[in-house]
Order: sequence, then structure tokens, then C-alpha cells
Amino acid sequence: MKGVIFLEFLALVEDKFGLDVADDIIESSTLESNAAYTSVGTYPFSEMVSLVTSLSERSGVSIPDLLQVYGEHLLGRFVARYPVHFEGVDSTFELLEKLDNTIHVEVLKLYPEAELPRFNPNRVAPHVLEMNYRSDKPLTMLAYGLIAGCAGHFGENIDIEMDDRSDEAQTNVTFTLTKVAA
Ligand code: HEM
Repeated sequence: MKGVIFLEFLALVEDKFGLDVADDIIESSTLESNAAYTSVGTYPFSEMVSLVTSLSERSGVSIPDLLQVYGEHLLGRFVARYPVHFEGVDSTFELLEKLDNTIHVEVLKLYPEAELPRFNPNRVAPHVLEMNYRSDKPLTMLAYGLIAGCAGHFGENIDIEMDDRSDEAQTNVTFTLTKVAA
């Protein structure tokens, strides 16, 4: 997993829970990297699992809730770090429809070792977008948070439903997004 994802996670922890908690979760996690992350570096996904699990134990907030909050925050950080992907885009559906075939493609050019999920968007009606999310990582609620973050960014009211068909080997969730009149 790319260092940028770790750096933004630790920055959020510092901001919301304080430096002491950020230090504590680093201490109590098993980290080969010693948390010396750089944005372009690549680190084992197990380190993210370890950090999020420690934060959940320390804060009493569940892992899914932490991932969702982190996803919402991360979208805002992507806007700041990679503004080019948001230029000329006016809606959540437009952005999500570019995710697999443009945004994550560009991410892969920038970071060839990135391990990206697939979303497969399908506009089933003008105000309904279905996205089947597949990944080898259990990050459904991160995806949920990123989608909710998009809706927040564009000031849209979007209802998000999930049909979870995941098993041990693969995450497989269909998100049905319905744009609700403001
Ligand atoms: C400009 C916008 C975006 C950029 C630059 C971006 C970039 C990235 C990067 C760098 C990673 C880490 C890959 C790795 O560590 O190997 C990632 C992962 C991920 N991205 Fe995006 N992303 C963007 C938008 C989105 C949006 C809107 C979604 C919403 C569904 C999304 C869903 C995910 C998920 C769920 C992962 C975690 C990996 C997994 O599930 O297997 N991304 N993205």
C-alpha cells in the first residue's frame, strides 16, 4: 500500500485524537517500516491493518467507523493533492465514472506498485449509479467513506446502499447510489 495512504491516515489521527494517540498506536503496532513512511514508498497492507486495529482498541471506535471517517477525509486530501482529476468535473457520478478508466489508471502510471480496486460503474438510470467494488483488501467502508466524501465535495445528497457478497478471498460489494433531490 502506498505511503500517501499511511501519511494521510496518521495526519488525521493526530488531528482528531492528538499526537499522543498517534504515537501510541505506532508503538503498539507491529511495523517493519517503523512508521518512517514517505508518500511514494510502498509498505505492507498488514501495517495499515495493525494501525487501524490499534486505533480502534485505543479509541473505542469500531474499525468500520474509523475506515468510513478516514475515507471521507481522504477524498478531501485527494482534491488537494491531485486537483487535476477534479477539474471540469461537476458531480459525484461524473467523478466515479472516471475512477476506473482514468483516475486510477493515472495513479498506476505514477505509482506502478499501487494495488488498486475495481469499481465497474453502471448508470442504471439518470439518478442511479451502481458500482461493483472488488478488491483483495477488506476496505469496503473506506470505499463508502470516499464515495460519501465525493458527495460532500460536490454538495450533493446521495443515498448509498450496499449489497455485500464478500468472502475470505475477495471483497465484492455492489454500491447503489441514488441521487436525492436537494
Ligand atoms: C483523485 C482521486 C483519487 C486518487 C488520486 C486515488 C488514488 C488512490 C491511491 C494512491 C490508492 C492506494 C493504492 C495503493 O496503496 O496501492 C487508492 C486506493 C483506493 N481507492 Fe482511490 N483514488 C482516488 C479516488 C477514489 C475514489 C473517488 C474512490 C471511491 C470509491 C476510490 C477508492 C479507492 C479504494 C477503496 C482504495 C483502496 C484499495 C482497495 O480497495 O483495494 N478512490 N486510490
